[in-house]
Amino acid sequence: MAGRIPQAFLDELLDRLDIVEVIDRRVKLKKSGKNYTARCPFHEEKTPSFSVNPDKQFYYCFGCGAGGNALGFVMDYENLEFPRAVEALASSVGLEVPRESTAPGQARREEEHRSLYKLLEEAASFYKQQLRQHPQKNRPVDYLKGRGLTGEIARQFDLGFAPPGWDNLLQALGKDEATRKLLADAGMLVENDQGRVYDRFRDRIVFPIRDQRGRVIAFGGRVLGDDKPKYLNSPETAVFHKGRELYGFYQVLQANRNLQRILVVEGYMDVIALFQHGITFATATLGTATSTAHLERIFRRCPEVIFCFDGDTAGRRAASRAMEAALPVLEDGRQARFLFLPEGEDPDSMVRSAGAEGFQALLDSALPMEEFLFETVAEGIDTRSLDGRARMARLALPHVRRLPDGVFRELMLQELARRTGLELDSLLRLEAAAAEAATPPEPAPAAGTHDYPDAPTEPEAPPGDWPDAPSSGSASASASAAPGARRDAQPVMPSGYANIAQGAIALILHKPSVARDVDPAPLAESPAPDARLLRELIELVRLRPESNTGMLLGHWYGRPEGDLLARLAGQERLIPTEGIDRQFRDTLDALCRRLPQQTQLAAQVDKLKHTNYAEVSELEKQRLRELLQEKRRRDAERERRDI
Ligand code: UTP
Ligand code: MN
Repeated sequence: MAGRIPQAFLDELLDRLDIVEVIDRRVKLKKSGKNYTARCPFHEEKTPSFSVNPDKQFYYCFGCGAGGNALGFVMDYENLEFPRAVEALASSVGLEVPRESTAPGQARREEEHRSLYKLLEEAASFYKQQLRQHPQKNRPVDYLKGRGLTGEIARQFDLGFAPPGWDNLLQALGKDEATRKLLADAGMLVENDQGRVYDRFRDRIVFPIRDQRGRVIAFGGRVLGDDKPKYLNSPETAVFHKGRELYGFYQVLQANRNLQRILVVEGYMDVIALFQHGITFATATLGTATSTAHLERIFRRCPEVIFCFDGDTAGRRAASRAMEAALPVLEDGRQARFLFLPEGEDPDSMVRSAGAEGFQALLDSALPMEEFLFETVAEGIDTRSLDGRARMARLALPHVRRLPDGVFRELMLQELARRTGLELDSLLRLEAAAAEAATPPEPAPAAGTHDYPDAPTEPEAPPGDWPDAPSSGSASASASAAPGARRDAQPVMPSGYANIAQGAIALILHKPSVARDVDPAPLAESPAPDARLLRELIELVRLRPESNTGMLLGHWYGRPEGDLLARLAGQERLIPTEGIDRQFRDTLDALCRRLPQQTQLAAQVDKLKHTNYAEVSELEKQRLRELLQEKRRRDAERERRDI
């Protein structure tokens, strides 16, 4: 099997390509000054905010924040996996893609995965065929018809039938010992206490679960009647991790070129029924709560997610958990909303009774994150009393603190100030106190109906992220924006940088040569956020002094750092072009000067994290408060300087 594509080749490829040509072949570009512009292909817009920079070989959309190099563009625009996109681009300039030989362990693993995918695809075909040919096929067919599904939609989702009997699949596919072992590894078999092995899915409608590339990785199976359990899912396997996968995601990507939003529902049948009614952007979690990994996956493809829950208590609880999972990834430009259906309805029944338009209207009325968050924390509190409002602020702050730095976080703080009638300043003081108490927001307990026994426990949110997360001072560029202003009404505002290291990174992306002659070594000690990324960038530029922005971005493509870099690269308008080398050195100096203080802070924080808070001495608490105050003061000062 082909191994890894060497980084040196990727650099060479990007060097040969011209991003303007690559994009223009797919989206017509117009020259505007030294850049090129177009209406963004990744979100709906009337006026062009998509811009391509030929010098730096990267693109950025000021409307939705999409950005990257030529390779990333082709991956996202054509929905191609990395190696495919590399091959497509390489052949367009007549290059052949070389491969590094892979380590033996990895090669074996890849080989095994390939056999699993192949076998699972065969299983899906087997079940599909049974739905058409089995002597009892009328039972599942009538069942599906009874639920209003057309043959066409059943084909689109490859629905199948696992016939009654113990070992239909085992007999059909398990020709030899090796394949039977593979069937077990794929989660298709179960073994009882007596050691007898038989099919996991028996006498059920089966729903193949595909990954985002369309490979079958698992199955869900529903009984035809009222037996229990109603649904069975494949267990975790080498190729199936249910905390990350979303049912229907592949079909959604196939059906929509310009995805605006993704709907997260609970059930297989909800996804399919919505699809049949033309709402082709619904996905379902697989018997687990929505995780941050799910949301990262979604936000890589579109700017908005709408969670859809039952209106009952369990639904409310599931919504709180979804909120917790969403907060850390709600960067500017991303939005999460919540839709609660009337009691007793699910999306399937709702879209049938209300029709596509009715359902669409419900979607339009979904609560934005800000309203859901504040309403949830205000529940049961008398917000007319001063006391109640202070309590509400204390409850809300730990949630707001989990948002990434940015305009949205600022707006949330302002909105909280408005709702509680407290001064922003007092809120920030409260926030400091909250940080000190280090109480992580209570993740709501698992809702009984939302986690099933075979569901793995989700990794919880990181415990109360301590003050090493930079606090945003109150005097930011966004402070004059209207409280509660909806983010989709305006383009993403360049919001300054969350920390000094990001400022330095932005300068490198703007002009890579600034990093050619600096020594990255002192940064190795730094615990500061993003200092490591900064050091890696400097090392990269020193290694390949000719790198342009697009090439630098290429090294982090598809990782969270890649998104951050693209965003920082897109904020070039904030950077003066004069004296940029000097500014870079100054920034680096400032960062290194802060090191001792930061190390001390980080060590204290670390110690406190591992100590029972009750045992921390008053003196230490006092010292920490001082450090935090000092840090805030410096951050605020720097921010004032940067504006
Ligand atoms: P629901 O119980 O809400 O059922 O399960 P539903 O989706 O409305 O099913 P229909 O309409 O009666 O067919 C929602 C989701 O929870 C998981 C499945 O993923 C299901 O789609 N689930 C449910 C299980 O994993 N096991 C179960 O026993 C039940
Ligand atoms: Mn249902």
